[in-house]
Amino acid sequence: MNTKTRWFIFLLTLFLLSAPVLVVAQWPDWPVPEEDAMIPNPVEKTPSAINNGRVLYETQCAACHGPRGLGDGAIASPNMTTEAFAAQTDGAIFYKLQQGRGQMPSFAHLPDEELWEVILFLRTFTEPIEVAEKINTLVKIETTEINQEKSVTVTAWEVTDENHLVPLQNVRIQLGVQRMFGVLPLAQQALFTNEEGVVSAIFPNDIPTDTTGHSTLVAFIDDPVYESSFTTKDVPWGQTWEIIDITQKRTLWGTMSSVPLWLLFSFIAIAGAFWITIMWVVLQTKKIFDQGRKAIRLQQESA
Ligand code: HEC
Repeated sequence: MNTKTRWFIFLLTLFLLSAPVLVVAQWPDWPVPEEDAMIPNPVEKTPSAINNGRVLYETQCAACHGPRGLGDGAIASPNMTTEAFAAQTDGAIFYKLQQGRGQMPSFAHLPDEELWEVILFLRTFTEPIEVAEKINTLVKIETTEINQEKSVTVTAWEVTDENHLVPLQNVRIQLGVQRMFGVLPLAQQALFTNEEGVVSAIFPNDIPTDTTGHSTLVAFIDDPVYESSFTTKDVPWGQTWEIIDITQKRTLWGTMSSVPLWLLFSFIAIAGAFWITIMWVVLQTKKIFDQGRKAIRLQQESA
């Protein structure tokens, strides 16, 4: 074995041994100093703190970490729904948020309180939010149409024990159009209520309706802390579609008996040409065979 071969084998072995290590060590251990890991979360775990954390998460973290912390966002990142993640202390997570590493940016420029709040929200990936009694709410959908522009406004209130209505700020509203299987969202991004408890969205003119030309708007508060049933409103909006009777009209996607004529003729022509070719080949073969026999007979006769 010469030196070159030996080197080659050495490097190959090194590569093969390191491959599994590279995969396992995609997120190498991230050590946190003991005294940082021990700092308790100074923010009390209240619904509004969790909700503030959620708002921060949606705007600053979800793009990479995915909407539910699975690490399935635009940039590969660690799964935050695992037991290993849940086992970390709030202090350790706070340290990582402040330090950052690699593609994980540092969030040290944000107020400490916001970081502690987002940690409370990260915990909801692994622990169900325990709420003794959900808060009663009221949701109302209003619609306006000015010069073809259709807009939808949703207002959310908390219903107090004295039956007063207090606008709900900063809660997430799901707003969409009822479809056969689920709700088609009206907005691309998450909708959070403003100080008046209001969110609004534009109703796109190209949304298909049911056959009667109506759409059903659906809104509810998407937050485990609040009791919220679906609120719906029927609107005469959306695009009605012409329903093509595929048994009557000749279309490509129609049934066998309503196939377009050009397709039918092309098919017959191609199939016909195919069979004519085969028959021609068979006839030619038979001719060769006959001629061969004839030649043999002539030979025998002359012999
Ligand atoms: C640009 C993409 C990106 C953004 C934005 C981002 N992260 Fe990260 N995050 C990462 C990556 C990548 C890692 C893995 C870093 C490493 O271990 O080297 C990470 C690691 C973490 C970790 C450590 C996980 C562990 O178990 O060690 C936490 C906690 C975390 N991110 C929370 C957040 C929070 C909260 C936000 C928003 C305030 C956020 N991240 C924003 C990409 C991102």
